[in-house]
Amino acid sequence: MMSDHKTSNQMWGGRFASGPAAIMEAINASISFDRKLYAQDIRGSLAHSEMLAETGIISKADQEKIAHGLNTILKEIESGAFVFSTKLEDIHMNVEARLAELIGTAAGRLHTARSRNDQVALDFRLWVKDEFQRIAEALKGIIGVLLDRADEHAATVMPGFTHLQTAQPVTFGHHCMAYVEMFARDLSRVRDAIERMNESPLGAAALAGTGFPIDRHQTAKALGFREPTRNSLDSVSDRDYALEFLSIAAICATHLSRLAEEIVIWSTPQFAFVRLSDSFSTGSSIMPQKKNPDAAELVRAKTGRVNGHLVGLLTVMKGLPLTYSKDMQEDKEAVFDAAETLDLMLAAMTGMVGDMTVNEQAMKRAAGSGYSTATDLADWLVRTLGLPFREAHHVTGRAVALAEQKKVGLEKLSLDDLKAIHSDITDDIFSVLTVQNSVKSRKSFGGTAPAEVRRQIRYWKKRLAKA
Ligand code: ARG
Repeated sequence: MMSDHKTSNQMWGGRFASGPAAIMEAINASISFDRKLYAQDIRGSLAHSEMLAETGIISKADQEKIAHGLNTILKEIESGAFVFSTKLEDIHMNVEARLAELIGTAAGRLHTARSRNDQVALDFRLWVKDEFQRIAEALKGIIGVLLDRADEHAATVMPGFTHLQTAQPVTFGHHCMAYVEMFARDLSRVRDAIERMNESPLGAAALAGTGFPIDRHQTAKALGFREPTRNSLDSVSDRDYALEFLSIAAICATHLSRLAEEIVIWSTPQFAFVRLSDSFSTGSSIMPQKKNPDAAELVRAKTGRVNGHLVGLLTVMKGLPLTYSKDMQEDKEAVFDAAETLDLMLAAMTGMVGDMTVNEQAMKRAAGSGYSTATDLADWLVRTLGLPFREAHHVTGRAVALAEQKKVGLEKLSLDDLKAIHSDITDDIFSVLTVQNSVKSRKSFGGTAPAEVRRQIRYWKKRLAKA
């Protein structure tokens, strides 16, 4: 039998009582995710109502009722008693409808000189700003752990790589400090972004401002912003702060994924540079000998998700005409998920790095393999014999070839072997062929010498103490 066309669509209407209206509700509603903004929404409404009363736009008595109602709603939501309704679309209308139930007609005055367009722009900015602060704290946390590990291992020698081929010896402390630089840049990006987004859009109303004598400076100040935004059209259509949040998150996640990848490599039995603690690794259900770096792998993988959210929102925003379009409702899930994901990634990485065991012997052994001090040999020829670097490079190449042929390290060649390659070589050359002396010699600013690494650590400890 044919179903009634009006109440359900033949193709997809089976579960819908009233056809398109229910679909409309489903695509339109954002309450399932924007309820996360409840605290910001209520904060914004309280500030707005106070300003309306102070400017004489609403009465003090109505404002008191509104404030009382909003505080009741806050408690209801926090205790789980509040009933959210999809029919009421979003957090703004859910709160307002409940306010009407609680205080009656005065509730209708709250939305004077305001629109959901500036309201949502405000709520979301407040949320992103709070989240920026959380990320800043988490970044300080991981930087602190890396500084501690660097301190401990300022002189622990390991191979430095290019192309993942042994290049020159470095210290593990120096390697940790490379990540300190990255996360410190992330932290400075967060601070820059907060500074840029620290303006209140409240009072831009639907798009054109309002004829009511509102005081946007007052609400901006009450809500902790530096000042109000300067253009009402931009105020309701700007989502740069969300895009900046996502791009900073993507860059930070990318840093985390590089460290995660190194931990995956370092924790293989072949490398054995580090051993993850039991709390940050898992076993295999079939191979009892295995200890898997799952947390590191997941940090590496979740970066894809964060990067995806950035591209997703850029794509939502591209080509949108001014001002507000409903497309912009799609900004929230991207940012919420990226934030939750990044928080977790930072926490996992901080834990992993903090309690992994560093195998100094394995690092040192590896540091000496692969003729890692060949550049030191060449530098000695330049410094001591005055050879041009290109010629020294050639002489060193012959020494490496000989060592390879004899299956020994460079430091195990005899003086006669070396003299046969260049007659002016003296046994002073052996002083630069050990990995310890190699790293010790690299005292240039930013270099890997333990003394220089310790100077870098002091610099960052001092700088972050001030931050
Ligand atoms: N839920 C909406 C959003 O997140 C709120 C703004 C609605 N504005 C409108 N003009 N329909 O974007």
